[in-house]
Amino acid sequence: MEKTTVKSPANIAFIKYWGKKDKDLRLPLNNSISMNLSGAFSLTTVEFSPDFKRDEIEMVGEEIGEKEKERIIEHLDRVRKMARVDFKARVKTKNNFPKGTGIASSASGFSALSLAASRAAGLKLSLKEVSVLARLGSGSACRSVPDGFVEWEKGNSNSSSYAYSLYPPGYWNLADLVILVSAQAKKVGSTEGHSMIKSSPFTQVRIDTVGQRLKKIKKALREKDFTLLGETIEAEALNMHAVMMTSQPPLFYWSPKTLELMLAIRAWREEGLEGYFTLDAGPTVHLICQKKDVRKMKKELSSIKGLLGVIVNYPSLGARVVKDHLF
Ligand code: DP6
Repeated sequence: MEKTTVKSPANIAFIKYWGKKDKDLRLPLNNSISMNLSGAFSLTTVEFSPDFKRDEIEMVGEEIGEKEKERIIEHLDRVRKMARVDFKARVKTKNNFPKGTGIASSASGFSALSLAASRAAGLKLSLKEVSVLARLGSGSACRSVPDGFVEWEKGNSNSSSYAYSLYPPGYWNLADLVILVSAQAKKVGSTEGHSMIKSSPFTQVRIDTVGQRLKKIKKALREKDFTLLGETIEAEALNMHAVMMTSQPPLFYWSPKTLELMLAIRAWREEGLEGYFTLDAGPTVHLICQKKDVRKMKKELSSIKGLLGVIVNYPSLGARVVKDHLF
């Protein structure tokens, strides 16, 4: 049994995954499209050994709750079952960003865990199989497995729901400036949020219109039409948040700073600096722009008070085995 370490990126969805048609299999209501992020990643080392009495899970610099631990152990059980191994495991993970703030730590975390644990257990899964496995841990994690710009095919069964690369990272010089406005963990996590989708009267509108936005994003990617891409990304994020805010009870993930940034990004755009926002289930704002404008964006951002930090990301590769272990 070989100790294995994987580096895997977070991803930002241009078309969101919000709502499941199968909760246990994590089959989404719609296809989603995302970009892997170069500056926000998890490193995970996994080792299985007959010497370990129980599964040991450690996250560098962070406490892990019992529920989170259980979710990780369940994932290890999936791998043990596939590999017909019953050794316990040691897992150590390090994120280079704070959790619970709108950067998907579950995406980078479960994609890294899936590749690392499957290799450590002696399995040689295909890219598609790793993506399927990652999806069972956390839906958005399946998109962090392949490279660059990615589509998650919703599928209708376990093996038909997985993500694949649409374009490699070098295809388009885009950037995602992740603007941290709060280090506090959110109150309602995305897993719980997904299950509330049915309570919103806006969900049907979302289901009826998301296909059009998917087409627009694909066209924008194909033709490298940044304006079409950005306008669609913003419309999509607002659509998802409209569903969240109209759920019962309502889910408000924004903070006043979130809104301040959204308005500022629109104002800069009117003055000719083209950027667009998107957000996931948290107050963090993702500012999508072209690489040539990153310096100007950072300068504009420096005039906004009270920000906790900005992480500059470019499109990146998906999950990769690396040499340096965490233990
Ligand atoms: C708002 O992948 O975290 O970030 O499958 O329950 O783990 P689970 O949900 P998760 O949901 C992510 C939701 C989102 C949108 C997105 O990334 O597409």
